[in-house]
Amino acid sequence: MRAVTKTVLGLGIAGAGVLGWASLVERNAFVLRRFEVPVLPEGAEPLRVLHLSDLHLLPRQRAKRSWVHSLASVDPDLVITTGDNIAADDAVPSLLDAYELLLPLPGVFVLGSNDYFAPKVKNPLGYLTRNHAKGVGTTQRLPTADLVRGLRAGGWVDLTNRRDTVSVRGLRIDVLGVDDPHLGYDRLDLVRGAASPEADLTLAVTHAPYQRVLDAYAADGADLIVAGHTHGGQVCVPGYGALVTNCDLDTSRVKGLSRWWPGAGSTPSSEAPADAAWLEVSAGLGTAPTAPVRLACRPEATLLTLVPRSRG
Ligand SMILES: [Fe+2]
Repeated sequence: MRAVTKTVLGLGIAGAGVLGWASLVERNAFVLRRFEVPVLPEGAEPLRVLHLSDLHLLPRQRAKRSWVHSLASVDPDLVITTGDNIAADDAVPSLLDAYELLLPLPGVFVLGSNDYFAPKVKNPLGYLTRNHAKGVGTTQRLPTADLVRGLRAGGWVDLTNRRDTVSVRGLRIDVLGVDDPHLGYDRLDLVRGAASPEADLTLAVTHAPYQRVLDAYAADGADLIVAGHTHGGQVCVPGYGALVTNCDLDTSRVKGLSRWWPGAGSTPSSEAPADAAWLEVSAGLGTAPTAPVRLACRPEATLLTLVPRSRG
């Protein structure tokens, strides 16, 4: 009996330790991931693309605000944000303060479900359940219009169910995006169309990387697809990885750089055709305030260095 008590006590202490690490340490251990992506025409100079996602920012999160603010020092040529920026109705000014030095740079954005609706209190481990994958489950609105106005004020391009063209360091970049597929807000019919041969790069973005969206982007000739939403699995198993992606993407692509082509499904990137699109999914910088833990999955931003295709 004493052995059983000791075992239970030991497990309890270990569990408390893991929870403390996940909620107090790892959740604030921000890291900048770097990838090189061979998608540019021959002879083009490298392009630095900073990708931010899933801040879920609360005004009191000064460390996160300060870390994001410091990212201007990596000197990006283009900034992409893929949504879930805020987590409270008073968070927009704090977010714009965090983005202060990035907003004057060329940028594009799409929104996520948490830019529309506030999270509701729930079981933190609900992230690992099917119920979480169905939607945010709340009707309390966030100040989306203020957020969009702030992001557009410096010139960032809103890609909510639309296409556009941006010019960055002499390159023509065709950009397209959809509203959040996790909410079913994506209108692929408004953005579909073959990539222009005039473009040096076709860049497609989405908050949630659902297969229907990735398939459409890849079929239309996107060179690079950028997404967030998965939180990298958020609560991962050390040495194993993610258990969930919170959408129909397979866990092998839950974060980082992979390949996608129409019908890729759960086929590994190692079997990609030569003309497959590159897919970068960010594990994001935050968590919903109702599930403030990250385990074996540090909060991250990404610096993509785009280089000529021949370097791939
Ligand atoms: Fe998120």
